[in-house]
Amino acid sequence: MTHILAIDQGTTSSRAILFDRDMKIVAVAQEEFTQHFPASGWVEHAPADIWDTVLRTCRAAIDKAGIGATDIMAIGITNQRETTLVWDRETGEPIHNAIVWQDRRTAQICETLRAEGHEAMVTEKTGLLLDPYFSGTKLKWLLDTVPGARDRAAAGDLLFGTVDSFLIWKLTGGAVHATDATNAARTLLYDIHKGGWSRSICEMLEIPSRMLPEVRDCAGDFGETLPEIFGEPIPILGVAGDQQAATIGQACFEPGMLKSTYGTGCFALLNTGDTPVTSRNRLLTTIAYQFNGTPTYALEGSIFIAGAVVQWLRDGLKIIKTAAESQDLALAADDSQQVILVPAFTGLGAPYWDSDCRGAIFGLTRNTGPAELARAALESVGFQTRDLLEAMQADWPAEDARAVLRVDGGMTASDWGMQFLSDIIGAPVDRPEILETTALGAAWLAGMEAGLYPDQEEFAKSWSCDRRFEPDMAEDRREARYAAWKRAVQATMSAR
Ligand code: G3P
Repeated sequence: MTHILAIDQGTTSSRAILFDRDMKIVAVAQEEFTQHFPASGWVEHAPADIWDTVLRTCRAAIDKAGIGATDIMAIGITNQRETTLVWDRETGEPIHNAIVWQDRRTAQICETLRAEGHEAMVTEKTGLLLDPYFSGTKLKWLLDTVPGARDRAAAGDLLFGTVDSFLIWKLTGGAVHATDATNAARTLLYDIHKGGWSRSICEMLEIPSRMLPEVRDCAGDFGETLPEIFGEPIPILGVAGDQQAATIGQACFEPGMLKSTYGTGCFALLNTGDTPVTSRNRLLTTIAYQFNGTPTYALEGSIFIAGAVVQWLRDGLKIIKTAAESQDLALAADDSQQVILVPAFTGLGAPYWDSDCRGAIFGLTRNTGPAELARAALESVGFQTRDLLEAMQADWPAEDARAVLRVDGGMTASDWGMQFLSDIIGAPVDRPEILETTALGAAWLAGMEAGLYPDQEEFAKSWSCDRRFEPDMAEDRREARYAAWKRAVQATMSAR
């Protein structure tokens, strides 16, 4: 029993990562799956794809490592958050495709609830905003729309879950219907202060509480897998939403510590300790992790387009063939041009929360070409990160903030991008040796609970930096460039 299996069920792919007793990765398997876009702004996943790719990648990783289920001490699960599933308690049959976090179909429901004056109450209890991003209105939509769903839910025949919950239920053969506090905190239904489902919000959205999962700590007993799945039962001992798992994997355990993960989007989390800081700048208050019934809170800034802007260069504009080429192209850009790209492809997330505006490019000249566009695309990720950090600093007293940003995710492989990030935020950026921080966070939760991995303090000491990027841009240039970005965002938002 020398390994821990981390399941990372993400938005575009499922991954299984096996760690050995020294927390070193020994095997990785990954499978992408189909994204369904049934209408403008709608995004769905087939539940069978989620489940099948998880099973196949787990089995592939176990095969690659040349081990058996008896060598795996525990499983840790981390997942795309907010994505909403409803299934039949008896048959396990989902009543609809999963509605993905990016899906905007409930914008009108949110608008109506806001107009009725509910947002302050929802924010006070959940730390979130009335935005389609979160699960609550997606669940209401399912109950309102799928024929018979409301009656079946009222009769106790249907279960709701985010992806973690769905996987736990499937892996345990329906024995456990549970989630962890970090995933619960993204549903819009969970009172992060009282630590329970909010009766008033459930009533407002007409959601029967009997369909909600039990909420547990991030490290603890989530049941064991059916023996026939991997050959032997394996206990599930760790669960956290992917951004929270990355916060754990980055060992951001002290108040003031900050991480930013660059995947499809970008999510920055600032540990605020036992204080649930209420944002005055439209950031989210959320749970970073919960041990022994005690939550540690975070301020979160969510940007919807980060790595996706590089995909756009590749698949939309076709000016690069691989993501890595974006850096070379950016390096070749004419420095005298100040092209700014606001990648509001699906609106803007924090701190603007404008779901209707769309992207724009400023400062085009006859000399603007692929290189300048690539640079503007990469720079937009740095500018957006600075937006989040500015909001965080305004919400959290600067003297308490550790002015170092720990980064992870695919885009952090670009030295040029990380240097620009450091330049534009005017603070050091630390890239860790292990870039698989999300999986590491989930594995550590399970391994620590199993007694294989060190405690929180020792784990934090084991975090090591691959490279620190120090700011190297003149102050006046930094501020002028950021001011130009802010003007571009304002113009983009008022252009719709
Ligand atoms: O809140 C959404 C986030 O959890 C999705 O993360 O990495 O699957 O794009 P990712």
